[in-house]
Amino acid sequence: MIKEGDFIFLYGGKKAQFLIKYTKERPYFECHLGKVDFPPEFDFGDVVYTNLNKPLYVLRPSTSDLVFRVKRLTTIMYPKDMGYVALNLGIKSGDRVVEVGSGSGAMTIVLASIVGDSGMVYSFERREEFLKNAMRNVKNAGLEKRVKFFLRDVEKDGFGVDDVDAIVVDVPEPWTVVGHVKRSLKGGAPVFFLSPNIEQVQKTYDALKEHGFVRMKTVEILEREIKVREGKTRPMERMISHTGYLTFAYKVNVEKGDLEHVRL
Ligand SMILES: C[S@@+](CC[C@H](N)C(=O)[O-])C[C@H]1O[C@@H](n2cnc3c(N)ncnc32)[C@H](O)[C@@H]1O
Repeated sequence: MIKEGDFIFLYGGKKAQFLIKYTKERPYFECHLGKVDFPPEFDFGDVVYTNLNKPLYVLRPSTSDLVFRVKRLTTIMYPKDMGYVALNLGIKSGDRVVEVGSGSGAMTIVLASIVGDSGMVYSFERREEFLKNAMRNVKNAGLEKRVKFFLRDVEKDGFGVDDVDAIVVDVPEPWTVVGHVKRSLKGGAPVFFLSPNIEQVQKTYDALKEHGFVRMKTVEILEREIKVREGKTRPMERMISHTGYLTFAYKVNVEKGDLEHVRL
């Protein structure tokens, strides 16, 4: 049964999708389809009806739904990129992961949901108003125990956390933190950089080569939804295309690499 504080996803069609937190204090929901008074007991998978007799299906929210719920004060990473990043960094339960910058805390939510109660996310942000907002967003998602936030300019002061399993870098000048990444990562472990522009990728590669990283790879993910209709199924005209280039590299225990890495 749904209990106090559970997130529920109410689905009444493409134009009626709502993620809400259920509380006994506010046992109702209102939207353009009318008002629903939740019954004293109801469960995921049930259907509830508005006073206008419109159905709303009670679904379990995905991590992607939680990410889109954050209050945005910065651009955020998109779920299409986040899943690929988490898989390629090999993040798993119990891992210690570093992130810079926290931004709006969207990626922090994804990382915290994967590392579990036995892991930890160390998230760094240099602007106080963004940090406070990210902390609120992570708390709203119920994941605050899995994240330690730091108000810090990493370019100047580094991470101060060692032997971490993976690092996520989403800042405009990623090449400025590569030296700090090298100090904090475990040997043989991966780092990820999100960069909207290819010039940022090129500068990051230069810094990675300088610090002896190997196995560099840059990709872009495009997400195109398919409109499925009887006899006329085809792709949507609009799609989520360029959000950023995703760059990965691995730390090795040498000062400077002697491989030819760049294959742009
Ligand atoms: C695009 S946002 C990150 C968004 C975040 N990944 C998310 O999904 O919500 C970039 C953030 O990096 C922060 N930032 C930039 N350079 C930084 C640095 N050297 N140290 C710490 N934070 C930095 C910015 O203030 C900004 O909030």
